[in-house]
Amino acid sequence: MKPKVLVTREVFDETLAFLGQHCDVESNQPDVAYAPDELARRLADKDGLMCALTDRVDAPLLERGPRLKVVANIAVGYNNIDVPACTARGIMVTNTPGVLDDSTADLAWALMLATARRLTEVESYVRAGEWTGWWLKQWLGVDVHHATLGIFGMGRIGQAIAKRAGGFDMKVIYHNRKRVAAALEQRLNATYVAKEELLRQSDFIILQVPYSPETHHLIGAAEIKLMKPTAVIVNSTRGGVIDDAALVAALKSGVIRGAGLDVFENEPKLNPAFLELKNVVLAPHIGSSTETTRRAMAMTAAKNAVAALTGKTPPNLLNPR
Ligand code: DGY
Repeated sequence: MKPKVLVTREVFDETLAFLGQHCDVESNQPDVAYAPDELARRLADKDGLMCALTDRVDAPLLERGPRLKVVANIAVGYNNIDVPACTARGIMVTNTPGVLDDSTADLAWALMLATARRLTEVESYVRAGEWTGWWLKQWLGVDVHHATLGIFGMGRIGQAIAKRAGGFDMKVIYHNRKRVAAALEQRLNATYVAKEELLRQSDFIILQVPYSPETHHLIGAAEIKLMKPTAVIVNSTRGGVIDDAALVAALKSGVIRGAGLDVFENEPKLNPAFLELKNVVLAPHIGSSTETTRRAMAMTAAKNAVAALTGKTPPNLLNPR
């Protein structure tokens, strides 16, 4: 008898083909997100769960999956999963680190450049047929090159963001829970600073810390007040790291220049005030969404699930015993 796996969202053909070699697979190819009760019902006879950040995996759900041995998240972030609750039940939890670093860093950069050069504003203007000529003070933006980039969170994605700054002759400063090794700082040409210093000195701030109770509202009204009035902030990690209401207020009153946002509190129901603001560039949580990367994420999750269900240690185990 093959182990039974539930895949909660649509995945790629090769993901299903790989899983099918080792498991009986029930997958949600129609891709209509399961309501919590339906998810629980489908989990009742499953040994493995391959899920996405849209699925809340908590103790009440685990209660209804008595056979569950592994929860394989198709994401590097795993704040949708109660890991201690899984550990307490002997359930392995895995994520997909590594395969999405460059794509996510590219998107953070895209948001930074787009906000600095007002790309969504000018795009709407051109599309609306309002472009009538050229003048000197037309759509003035700010330079990214030679500016100071402050990176919050110097994990793999933060490092990929820093690496790109060399080509733009930027000064890179960073803050991290733990200072990274001197050799890495040297390679990235990045200087460690205290949180307040990063907020005060940066022209551009990119947030790349994982979401947790410690990073909830890492950036709120008090932090925004420390930033330069010309500062641009980019959030490419998780909603909740920024206090969105405080950010809206700051953007409205010009406390900072602008924001590039891929993630939001309560997404996809974002604060409606963002839609009225011209100095934000908005994206629908697509940091890792390139064809190659999303395929790699799904396959990484599948390999983690299969390893766990065939008596091996999954490559990306988050809760080793
Ligand atoms: C992740 O992997 O955590 C991303 O946010 C998913 O797109």
